[in-house]
Amino acid sequence: MTFRAAVITLYPDMFPGPLGVSLAGRAREEGKWSLEAIQLRDFAADKHRTVDDTPAGGGAGMVLRADVLARAIDHARAVMGDSKPIPVLAMTPRGRPLTQARVRELAQGPGVIVVCGRFEGFDERIFAAREVEEVSIGDIVLSGGEPAALMLLDACIRLLPGVMGAPSSGTEESFENGLLEYPHYTRPAEWEGRTIPEVLRSGDHAKIAAWRKLQSEVDTRLRRPDLWERHEGARVQSASGARREKRDVDQ
Ligand code: ADE
Repeated sequence: MTFRAAVITLYPDMFPGPLGVSLAGRAREEGKWSLEAIQLRDFAADKHRTVDDTPAGGGAGMVLRADVLARAIDHARAVMGDSKPIPVLAMTPRGRPLTQARVRELAQGPGVIVVCGRFEGFDERIFAAREVEEVSIGDIVLSGGEPAALMLLDACIRLLPGVMGAPSSGTEESFENGLLEYPHYTRPAEWEGRTIPEVLRSGDHAKIAAWRKLQSEVDTRLRRPDLWERHEGARVQSASGARREKRDVDQ
């Protein structure tokens, strides 16, 4: 199955960009994913190919028109034509923060239609009218949605079957279990007076696994208290669920 991506943008030349090389580039050559960059301006209705207008109520910047966006999305849906509906995502700092869990769902296929914003943003009416999911890649403001779209696609592509060399690196890494990944080291064993933790050179796999688990927990607690809180919340909940189940069985 080919994962199909369509990107609606004012800058189609930005694609595939970094996704044309390395892992993603090779996977595209092998037909594991496909990309169509759609010029939003092609769906303007006037001879100036206007895609935006001034914000209702006044203020700075310009807003992408809902009618132009709708024509572009309808076109993308028509050319993608799949038995399963293809999710439409709009990249915007107002969106729901992207998570590895959502990336994993999207990577199941059939693909994505990604709409990139520029200027002040999108006419709000487009989201409900075309069932568009607003997605943010973090609490930062980019000059446009294109780099965010590249990030989203990169995250999906590396999860496609046969794309990543070592499958285990997809499940042990950061976020896959709600924690940050443990730190890594490689040769030389001593570098600029700094050594590799002794346990990693012990050859004792159980001890190494325990050390990695602890590091992963400590680093998450210190660096990402938000993730740690969620992880602890889920752990406490699943433990009390297990106790409840045991009580039910015992009765
Ligand atoms: N466009 C501009 N900033 C963005 C962000 N943080 N996430 C997604 N799209 C954006």
